[in-house]
Amino acid sequence: MEQQARRILVVNGKGGCGKTTIATNLAVAYASNGTPVALADHDPQASSTYWSEQRPADLPAVPVIRAHELSSMYQTQVFHNRIPPDTQRIIIDGQSNARYTDLGVMLKQADIILIPVLPSSIDIRTSGNFITKLLTHQSFRADPRPVGVIANRIQPNSPTHNKLMHFLGCLDIPTVATFRDSPMYSEAVELGQGVVEMKEARSARREAASWHQLLLWLEEQAPSTRVTVQSIRQRPAAAKLHRTQRSQQDAV
Ligand SMILES: Nc1ncnc2c1ncn2[C@@H]1O[C@H](COP(=O)(O)OP(=O)(O)OP(=O)(O)O)[C@@H](O)[C@H]1O
Ligand SMILES: [Mg+2]
Repeated sequence: MEQQARRILVVNGKGGCGKTTIATNLAVAYASNGTPVALADHDPQASSTYWSEQRPADLPAVPVIRAHELSSMYQTQVFHNRIPPDTQRIIIDGQSNARYTDLGVMLKQADIILIPVLPSSIDIRTSGNFITKLLTHQSFRADPRPVGVIANRIQPNSPTHNKLMHFLGCLDIPTVATFRDSPMYSEAVELGQGVVEMKEARSARREAASWHQLLLWLEEQAPSTRVTVQSIRQRPAAAKLHRTQRSQQDAV
């Protein structure tokens, strides 16, 4: 039976901003909700693949597609062949430092785009450049899709936090989630888990509320952009860029 699969790309040209962390945790958030989900690992470092290898078999399954192993011309075919047929969400762990054409390949595969940004001057500057590159990319301009920024590794009320919030406030795209700087995230990787599965820690419960907010935003975005796994090549090139309120900033 043909199923809908919406593809969510997590991307930023800046390395180490949390793409893999966001992608794996988002996949777990969907899987824990009972939504069949898959991860597409576009990073040659294969960090999402490593994470999935640590994942205990008794937790909800998150199949990983090793997209980085294939040349871009075969990637669409890979989605056809390797994704379990009931998959509803595909989380794409994007590559840092992607060249223009590689970024185009990733953008063409995405229905929604998430950009994690860290609170440091260097990250803010590089991320600003990347956002400009993305929004002006030929593949994006030909088919604009919802874009959200994620403030990652936040330490509330620190000077860098205030600087990041000022930067995000100047952007023309919404901040759709904020996640705290917490050792839980590296612990979750070691366990092949997501923080929403680490229920024993109080801080994990607080953080889980932020993941729930992100899922809500994602599910509000343009159902018209949904595609079937079997018809990835035929999606309409029409969706408008959606904007939402910065409700997540209050959660910090
Ligand atoms: N919210 C967070 N709190 C604490 N540590 C975090 C958080 N997000 C990410 N990290 C840590 O930051 C490091 C880099 O994160 P991650 O690997 O997800 O970044 P990336 O953007 O995928 O990097 P790359 O560009 O190398 O693929 C990791 O050690 C990860 O555990
Ligand atoms: Mg990564």
